[in-house]
Amino acid sequence: MTSTQLQSTVRVLGSVVAIVFGIVTILAGSRVLLGTDPGYVVFRPLLIFNTVMGVLYVAAGVTLWRSARRGKQAAGTIFTLNLLVLIGIAIAYRAGDAVAIDSVQAMTLRTAVWLAIFLSVAWRMRVPAAIGRTALVALMVGSAASCTNKQEATPATMEQSAQAVMPAHGSPPLDPDERTALILPAMGRHLVLSEMRVMLTSVQEFVAAAARGDTAAMRTAATASGVAAARDLDPAMQQRLPAEFLRLGMSTHTAWDSLALDVASGSTTNQALARLGVIMSNCVACHEQFRIAIEP
Ligand code: HEC
Repeated sequence: MTSTQLQSTVRVLGSVVAIVFGIVTILAGSRVLLGTDPGYVVFRPLLIFNTVMGVLYVAAGVTLWRSARRGKQAAGTIFTLNLLVLIGIAIAYRAGDAVAIDSVQAMTLRTAVWLAIFLSVAWRMRVPAAIGRTALVALMVGSAASCTNKQEATPATMEQSAQAVMPAHGSPPLDPDERTALILPAMGRHLVLSEMRVMLTSVQEFVAAAARGDTAAMRTAATASGVAAARDLDPAMQQRLPAEFLRLGMSTHTAWDSLALDVASGSTTNQALARLGVIMSNCVACHEQFRIAIEP
């Protein structure tokens, strides 16, 4: 599995676990609310909190499916809320109040599952593959545990699954760059980056030529980044690149060619610059999403 595939597998798995966990939570909570006896004293405010949270679990799962970044925020928020409630009921349990140990255990499990989801998404960026895989396993353990009887979920196993997603001792510091890494061999990276520098030159020359009103130079500058300038990546390397990346890249080259045609067919300088602005939203969109990492 490449790192990019691993990243999206972790994200999709996290989102499936979140949605299933949410549905199970809603069903279990509403059954007890409607009168089924769970076999221990129910602390009603907690039951209502958890049932409502079930809806948020599902929403967070859907968010995570769509966007890793917002999904990570949602998972972090749910984890924090669960942790605060866990601390609260643990204190109440110690004080001998109305809370059963079963509730404390179940709450610990919920908190641990959300911690595992949060960590596995948070470390999806620049995870050394081994840690990513550990996070995957921890998620599976967490979800399997949450589907079995909560009595079996001892604090020890939960602690282990939470620890399993911590980075191993001595692993590289976390990279704050959250963009999807395209893992390429040195030559592939060189081809992509040199193509980029050609496009930057086109932008510079195009703008300078437009300021002089030199349409011939504007056309030359635009054509230099057209489809003919696209680097020939070998098929093995093309396969490693996400479809979204290839699509954005190709539509940018095509747009440069049609900008050259526009200039040739007499568009005004302002119209041409406006089109360049539109083309450059592709540069921005792609740079926001992707970065390149050299294959180890
Ligand atoms: C399909 C995606 C994509 C598009 C479209 C794109 N870029 Fe890039 N560009 C990248 C990636 C990925 C990098 C590497 C970023 C990193 O690793 O941090 C990069 C790097 C660069 C660099 C740095 C080159 C170097 O030598 O380090 C420049 C300059 C650049 N792009 C200019 C542009 C310009 C100008 C445009 C639009 C006209 C553009 N790019 C459009 C993906 C894209």
